[in-house]
Amino acid sequence: MFSYRHAFHAGNHADVLKHTVLISAMNYLAQKDVGYTAIDTHSGPGLYKLDSPDAKQSGEAQEGLLALLRNKSKLAGPMAPALLAYRAVLDHFNPQGGMVHYPGSPFIAHHLLREQDKLKLFELHPTDIRTLVANVEALQAGRQTMVMNEDGFLGLPKYLPPTTRRGLVFIDPSYEIKLDYERVVVAVSTGLQRFATGTFVIWYPIIPRPQAHSLPRHLTNLARQSNRPWLHATLRIRSGAQRPEAVTGDPVKRLGLVESGVVVINPPFSLQEDLQAALPQMVQLMGQDSQAGFTLTNS
Ligand SMILES: C[S@@+](CC[C@H](N)C(=O)[O-])C[C@H]1O[C@@H](n2cnc3c(N)ncnc32)[C@H](O)[C@@H]1O
Repeated sequence: MFSYRHAFHAGNHADVLKHTVLISAMNYLAQKDVGYTAIDTHSGPGLYKLDSPDAKQSGEAQEGLLALLRNKSKLAGPMAPALLAYRAVLDHFNPQGGMVHYPGSPFIAHHLLREQDKLKLFELHPTDIRTLVANVEALQAGRQTMVMNEDGFLGLPKYLPPTTRRGLVFIDPSYEIKLDYERVVVAVSTGLQRFATGTFVIWYPIIPRPQAHSLPRHLTNLARQSNRPWLHATLRIRSGAQRPEAVTGDPVKRLGLVESGVVVINPPFSLQEDLQAALPQMVQLMGQDSQAGFTLTNS
C-alpha cells in the first residue's frame, strides 16, 4: 500500500479530464451566492513541479497538459470554454509564464473558493500529507480550508450534508488496492443517502481489471436508484495493449494509462455542454493515434 505518488502523473491526460470537470462544476456552483462545501477525499500533496525528477522521469505531462498547450494551433476555432477555464487556473499558478507549477485538486479548489465556501481535504500518505499541510499553510488559507490526515472514504460522511445543502464531493483514489473500487461505491451510496442533491465527481482508470470496467455501471445504477441525473465521460489518448492483468502485473504502471473516465452524479446543468465542446478538442490535442477518442453519456 501507498506506493502510488501522484507526482509521477501530475498533468497527464487523466488530470486534464478530471480537473476540467472539477473546474467546470465549481464555476457552476459559484453562480449562486449561497456558499458551498467542496470535499476532496483523496487530495495528494496539492501542488507539483513539472520540472521535478519525478515528473520528468514519467514524462506524463508531456502527453497530457503540455500536449494540450503545444498543439493548440491545430484547432480550427477557439478553445472550448471549459479548456480555457482550465488554462486560466493553470496560468494563475504560473504567473511568470511557462508551465512549471501544476495545481492538484486541493489547489484548484482552493483557488476557486469564494469567501463563503469551505474546503475539506483528506490525505493518508505519510509524505504527501506533510507536503499538503505545508502547501496549504503557505496559501494562508485559514479556517476556510481544513486538511485531515484521515481516510477520505471514512471521513466523508461527517461532512454530509453541508450546512448550506450545497456541495461537491471529488473522489479521486489511486486504485492502488482493488478494494478502492468497492469503497468508492459504498462511499457514494452512503453519500447519496445523506446528501441526495450533492454533486459527486468520481474519477477512475480504464484498465484491464474487471472492477474498473464495472465501476461506472455501479455508480450510474446508484444514481438511477436514487432518481438522480448522472453524466459519464471517458477520454482515450491512444491505443494500449489490453493484456490481462494476470500476465502484466500492474497494467497502470507497466503499460501506461491510456484511458480514464469520470462519472458525475447530479452534474451541473452546464457540464454536458462544456464537455461536449471540450472532449473532442482534448482528443484532437492529446490524441496520438486513430484509437484516441471520447465518450459522453448522460441520463
Ligand atoms: C490520484 S491521487 C490524488 C490526486 C489529487 N486528487 C489531484 O487531483 O491532484 C490519490 C491520493 O489519495 C491518497 N490516498 C490513498 N488512499 C487514501 C484514503 N483512503 N484516504 C485518503 N487519501 C488516500 C494517495 O496517497 C494519493 O495521494
